[in-house]
Amino acid sequence: MDLKNEINKNTLPKHIAVIMDGNGRWAKQQGLLRAFGHENGTKSVKQTVEACAELGVENLTLYAFSTENWNRPKLEVKTLMKLLVSSLKNEVKTLQDNNIKLTAIGNLNTLPKKVYSELFEVIETTKENTRMTLTLALSYGSREEIINTVKEISNKVKNNIISSENIDESIINEHLYTRNLLDVDLLIRTSGEQRISNFLLWQIAYAELYFTSVLWPDFTKQHLYEAIIEYQKRERRFGKTSEQLS
Ligand code: IPE
Ligand code: IPE
Ligand code: MG
Repeated sequence: MDLKNEINKNTLPKHIAVIMDGNGRWAKQQGLLRAFGHENGTKSVKQTVEACAELGVENLTLYAFSTENWNRPKLEVKTLMKLLVSSLKNEVKTLQDNNIKLTAIGNLNTLPKKVYSELFEVIETTKENTRMTLTLALSYGSREEIINTVKEISNKVKNNIISSENIDESIINEHLYTRNLLDVDLLIRTSGEQRISNFLLWQIAYAELYFTSVLWPDFTKQHLYEAIIEYQKRERRFGKTSEQLS
């Protein structure tokens, strides 16, 4: 049976974030270069985006490249950047056809010019789309994001735009890269690693965490459905007691 039918449409996670991990190990298992793992990972991106849009998930955020990933061998970084440009070029039509809006979070100024211009072209082309917001985390680091937020807010305090007594969760939310997104409900990490790797630290405060040993290039729609079904079995108490919820 298709697992899709087991999903309750009324309690879908509104925001799913994914740490797409395991491309390198997938390639190694097949005796291939890491680049092939990354290339095959793009198929899983397509599957995940399609599945989320079909279900009616409002926000999907994909961790594609971290601030720490700049420390990888130069050739691998180059491959990943090339792959990004070609994927953006190839997918713009699918995004348009499916009414999906693309956005990006991270220190985008550090991206190579070609990636940056291709990215903003697709963001511009898809900006009026309303079915789902797909966000790519690129050159993204959560600590860097928090540092930027603190800097922006303290500048506003200095210029009397915000008073320090009024700083609250919503002011912080408004200054994060994710300011236009909902809180993360479900965080998925593939490849068996059980860590956050500097991803959305503030935003996952109350997210349900889901770890699977499936390597990213093997991740399909069915794996996403499994994650959502598991999410729907959990009781999200937000600090309350079980009795209070029912
Ligand atoms: C995820 O796969 C892709 C990126 C981090 C860009 P990895 O490249 O980290 O794959 P492993 O973890 O080495 O298997
Ligand atoms: C996290 O994966 C970053 C992305 C998936 C883009 P990594 O493979 O870089 O994380 P670590 O180094 O294993 O924590
Ligand atoms: Mg990895």
